[in-house]
Order: sequence, then C-alpha cells, then structure tokens
Amino acid sequence: MGLKAISDGKLAVLLLSGGQGTRLGSSDPKGCFNIGLPSGKSLFQLQAERILCVQRLAAQAKNEGAGSVQIHWYIMTSPFTDDATRKFFESHRYFGLEADQVTFFQQGTIPCISKDGRFVMETPFRIAKAPDGNGGVYSALKGSRLLEDMATRGIKYVDCYGVDNALVRVADPTFLGYFIDKGVAAAAKVVRKAYPQEKVGVFVRRGKGGPLTVVEYSELDPSLASAINQQTGRLRFCWSNVCLHMFTLDFLNQVTNGLERDSIYHLAEKKIPSAHGYSMGLKLEQFIFDAFPYAPSTALFEVLRDEEFAPVKNANGSNFDTPDSARLLVLRLHSRWVVAAGGFLTHSVPLYATGVEVSPLCSYAGENLEPICRGRTFHAPCEISF
Ligand code: UD1
Repeated sequence: MGLKAISDGKLAVLLLSGGQGTRLGSSDPKGCFNIGLPSGKSLFQLQAERILCVQRLAAQAKNEGAGSVQIHWYIMTSPFTDDATRKFFESHRYFGLEADQVTFFQQGTIPCISKDGRFVMETPFRIAKAPDGNGGVYSALKGSRLLEDMATRGIKYVDCYGVDNALVRVADPTFLGYFIDKGVAAAAKVVRKAYPQEKVGVFVRRGKGGPLTVVEYSELDPSLASAINQQTGRLRFCWSNVCLHMFTLDFLNQVTNGLERDSIYHLAEKKIPSAHGYSMGLKLEQFIFDAFPYAPSTALFEVLRDEEFAPVKNANGSNFDTPDSARLLVLRLHSRWVVAAGGFLTHSVPLYATGVEVSPLCSYAGENLEPICRGRTFHAPCEISF
C-alpha cells in the first residue's frame, strides 16, 4: 500500500534541519556531518540515497523504469543553516536526486531572553535570536505557501523527520502503508525508551482518554521518568519519540490555519552568544509534536531501536548519542543484513568496534542483498555498493 501511494506521487518528505546543533559542537548544519562511516557519507547523503532507493523500489513494484517515481523533498532550514545547506547540496549535485525535486524553505527566529526577562543583545545594536523550534515548521509552511505547492503536486501524505538519526528510514513505505491502512491524520514512530534519563520525549495521554501528545524530556519530572508500570514491570512512560511523524496534507492545513490561536512556546535554557561572550539564557521554541492533540485521529508505530534509531546529538567523547555510537549502530545493523544474505565477514579489529556498511543505493532495509552478498567475504570496515 505504501509503495503504491509513493509510486502514485502521494508522499512528500519533509526534513527538519533548522536546528543549530550546539550540542554536537559543529557550526555546520548537522546534516553535513560525516559520522565516520567507511563511505564518509554525510547524514544528508545517507538520507538522499534512501530516497533514491525507495523511488526505485516503488517503480519496481509498479513494473516501471527507475526514473518514473519521484519523491519531493522539502528541507526546512533556518537563517543559521540555510546558506551552508544549499551550498552543500549544490556542491554534491543533490546526491543524485534531481535539483528540482528539492525545495528549501526557512523557519523563523525569535528573540532570546535572559533569565530575568530581558532581551539578550548579540551586539550593542542587535537582539540575539534563535530558530523558533522545529514546531516553527507550521508557520514556515504557511508563510512560504508550500502546502499549496504540495497540493498542486498531488501530495496527500507528509513524512516529517529530524536530521540527526543515522538510521532514519526516510519515506518508509511500511510506515506509510500502516498510516494509510489506519486512516489516521497523524502518526509517529516510537521505540522503547532505553533508560529512564534518556533524552527523548515520551508519548502520553493527558488525562484519562485524553489526546495523545509528547512530553519532552526537558519537561518530564525525573520521578515520572523513572516510574514503573506495576503490571508490565516496564517504564510507565516508555514510548519514545524519535522525531519521525507522518501527517495527512489535510491535517497540516488544519494545523497551520489554527496556529495563531493555539501556539505553545517551550523554554529551553541554552548558551546564547551575547555582546559579552556566551551567557546562559532562554530560547523560546515550538515543538512539532504539539500538533498531535489537535489531530482527529492518531496512531503510534513501534519500530526496533537497533534498526531505526541511531541519534547523533553530542560530540564524540560524550557518553551517549555521539557520531561514534551512531556509526557503530549502522555498522552492526548492516553487518547483520550481510550475514543474513549469505555473506561472510572478516575483520582485523574486534567486530564489536567495526562492521560493514551497505550503501542505501543497494538496499533500503536489508532487502535485495543476496545477489551481492551470497558466498562473498567482506573485510570490515568497508562499504558494500554496486
Ligand atoms: C528531539 C525531539 C525529542 C525526541 C528526540 C529524538 C522535538 C522537539 N524533540 O529532541 O522528543 O525524543 O529528538 O532524537 O522534536 N530543529 C529545527 N529547528 C529548530 C530546532 C530543531 O529544524 O528550531 C530540528 C533539528 O535540526 C533536528 C530536530 O528538529 O532535526 C530535533 O531537534 P533537537 O532540538 O535537536 O531535538 P532533541 O532535543 O534531540
């Protein structure tokens, strides 16, 4: 069902890429980051190639040529990431995609304030500003009239995701098929929370039978974060948001039109560049998932963490969610695919520290690898490509 909708041109992909990536310690847009895979591919390239692969799978499902299916990719940037993102795509020739299937648009910014409620000055004459959060996507879509653009293209479903997951299944036909089958207006992929303090938002229902929403990790009381469900013995709030949402275009229209009335802002304490060096202050942010309570119908789709979640949040040297940990997650998963397809691996460093990488141009989720792998031996680390 998902592949059919894709081959009918009904799916668009929307990347949230306006964040400043301060935790990663790089001033480049996060998507340009190379997490050290054997191929040296950036996060943007991995995502672009997954889109190419889904296009091919959808065309094959329809018995048509590879070029017959095109998935439009909308990329939200901010004034902090826009120029560098566009240049990166241009200098890499859109990673094999057609230039006109990619649309960049910018989210807004909002002034930063000090803890005592004053504007922070970046220079004596300029107020410090920051992107208005990934929930800024709704007003940005409205302001740039992109929902009309989507309607003109015949798009019905929009897959929105965060840039910083090395295993993200962009344009996932299985998720789309589930979404269509359920007939809901909004859905999200979830994984089981790994440990109580993990920095992930959790899906909850507010009040008995209340609407589905996310409580962000920065706003969840630590005692609730570690509370146990006595019946299951698992964490009470265990469905982690991986920042991968599917919406109908109709629902996006509904949200963007009701936005002015209902906007919620969250406060994040962050380092802010000021005329006197960096100072701690408050950024105001909207969150994409704050739209969920307005959806007439919702669904969650559980996926396996090992297969779909390799967050790249902190610089190497931190304890978790680093480029190094994300690279290992990719290599481990791809090594399992290769062995399952009848391949063999040799390695001169311990296998837990290395593995093979499968190009997304060959396989999206482990499929179609037998002709390439059966009976062959690969020496890790290496990339397997056509
Ligand atoms: C986000 C989720 C969190 C989830 C986690 C999983 C939100 C608000 N939080 O947290 O619930 O468990 O990912 O990894 O979604 N972005 C913008 N513009 C902005 C700010 C962010 O486009 O103004 C983008 C970032 O580029 C990134 C995504 O939104 O692609 C997530 O942003 P980030 O602020 O890093 O979220 P986390 O705190 O990691």
